[in-house]
Amino acid sequence: MNPEIHVELSSGVLTVTISRQEKKNALTNDMYGALADAIARAHSDADVRVLLIQADGDTFTAGNDISEFATQSKESGQKERHVARFLRGLANATVPVVAAVQGKAVGVGTTMLLHCDYVLLSEEAQLMTPFVNLALVPEAASSYLLPLRIGHVRAFEMFALGEAVPADVAVAWGIANKAVSNPELRAEARRVAGRIAARPIGSLTAMKRLMRDAEKLVTQMEGESVIFAERLASDEAKEAFAAFAQKRAPDFTKIVRQ
Ligand code: COA
Repeated sequence: MNPEIHVELSSGVLTVTISRQEKKNALTNDMYGALADAIARAHSDADVRVLLIQADGDTFTAGNDISEFATQSKESGQKERHVARFLRGLANATVPVVAAVQGKAVGVGTTMLLHCDYVLLSEEAQLMTPFVNLALVPEAASSYLLPLRIGHVRAFEMFALGEAVPADVAVAWGIANKAVSNPELRAEARRVAGRIAARPIGSLTAMKRLMRDAEKLVTQMEGESVIFAERLASDEAKEAFAAFAQKRAPDFTKIVRQ
């Protein structure tokens, strides 16, 4: 049980709600653990037919908690973190996954959507992948999935410049199914999840397996996480994390190319 991740099963839909509003739903290791547990339950509990991911407040999630990134950048060695279990679980999820996204979806908030099967955005939602802003590299197999989904130059722009992609553009690019007004978002997500839950689950899971190469996705994640760990320990990343904590812009110009 984690107070910032709420899990509820109703009529075959396992709804997972991210709720850490005072930090814009930034995700901590403990929260990833609770998310990973919910995905494991969706896998093993025969009553679960659809997983629905949503969030409280005005922001879907501000991505990984940056103060935890800063702590990790000072630690040596590679500890298994819940984020890896969460992402592996999502890549291997057998039941359909629906996401309802309002406000900003930053970093993993956007990359997790690439593993979802039906993505609803609110009309003011914005997708951002500012890994390079933090001197990191993309994760969650997004270095493979995003170019595949939207093409290299758009993916490069999203990753390299870290600018927000508005909901209508995200729909046009095929990252999401549709955008609805913010007050309608939850009800519409619930409706879609309910419709999917009524479909033959054996057929859906077999279809999903055919549509996605989970093994390839997990291999990509493992490759990314090695480089991600190296980047976390870099001087560039340390400058980015210090700048975030001090609420200033980072200055990378004094760090020379290796
Ligand atoms: N990690 C840790 N804390 C975070 C956070 C994150 N990813 N994102 C926001 N917060 C915290 C802020 O530090 C602030 O805490 P404080 O009130 O103790 O100072 C609080 O959440 C509110 O954030 P704030 O920046 O004031 O809200 P905003 O509405 O002006 O901006 C964001 C919202 C999401 C645009 C902005 O917070 C942001 O850019 N966050 C970092 C996103 C990011 O780079 N994530 C990692 C991606 S790899």
